Amino acid sequence: MTAASKPAQQPPVDNSYWVIVPAAGSGKRMGADKPKQYLPLLGQPLIAHTLQNILSWPGLAGIVVAIAANDRDFATLVEAANPRVHTVTGGAERADSVLAALDYLSTQAAPETSVLVHDAARPLVSVDDIRALAAADPMALLAQPASDTVKRAAQSGDKSCVTETLPREQIWLAQTPQKAPLETLRQCLQQGLKANPTAITDEASALELAGFKPQLVPACRSNFKVTHPADLVLAEALLQHRQQSGAQSGIQQ
Ligand code: CTP
Ligand code: MG
Repeated sequence: MTAASKPAQQPPVDNSYWVIVPAAGSGKRMGADKPKQYLPLLGQPLIAHTLQNILSWPGLAGIVVAIAANDRDFATLVEAANPRVHTVTGGAERADSVLAALDYLSTQAAPETSVLVHDAARPLVSVDDIRALAAADPMALLAQPASDTVKRAAQSGDKSCVTETLPREQIWLAQTPQKAPLETLRQCLQQGLKANPTAITDEASALELAGFKPQLVPACRSNFKVTHPADLVLAEALLQHRQQSGAQSGIQQ
């Protein structure tokens, strides 16, 4: 076979990414009889959809799921038996759960390994969005540009009143996954939790506190976090739509 007639060589797939899935929350705002990640969604626990989406991404090396110390549900999942799925015990806040997973991962992977952190409670993440995030800057996060007019408010007695309308083009709503090199993220989270624990509500906030400027990668609107009971209804309808249309991707902006 001549060089000209050889089939084009595909570049090798980079499957060196690790994904951390914090799943140790109790779901207070959902108010159900079990943590929201185990509530049924189209006949499967919500977290099973999240893990299946991540497992179908060719870039994946492995997943570390942070579960609660008293968790009795995770071990019953089909995905729990997957050799690429590892577990650690999470902590009191989301950042503590992520840090526990990073501590474990630092015994398994090199310090510069690219790590994506993804909420168990976002079952509609699309593989297309994960790919776009992987291709972005080393520190990056999925986010959604604000579509509503954004107001700043102040408490006035028992009411909230507008003090200002903010320029919408500067407002993005952070989603997950959020990506950073393993050791940098671990150190930023440790330092951020010491310096200002209440300000560390996602990985990017810890990186920002250390002076980094993570890239915002526009994501599908369907990648919302299941938080309140109405979100379950919406998530189920969107999953059904995705299954019926055979689409891997989410619903676009
Ligand atoms: N999470 C975690 N460890 C915690 C708290 C939260 O791993 N101590 C996880 C949740 O399981 C969820 C993700 O972080 O997948 C996002 O958190 P959130 O939506 O706030 O979930 P909950 O804390 O469970 O919900 P709530 O705040 O309503 O109690
Ligand atoms: Mg919470």
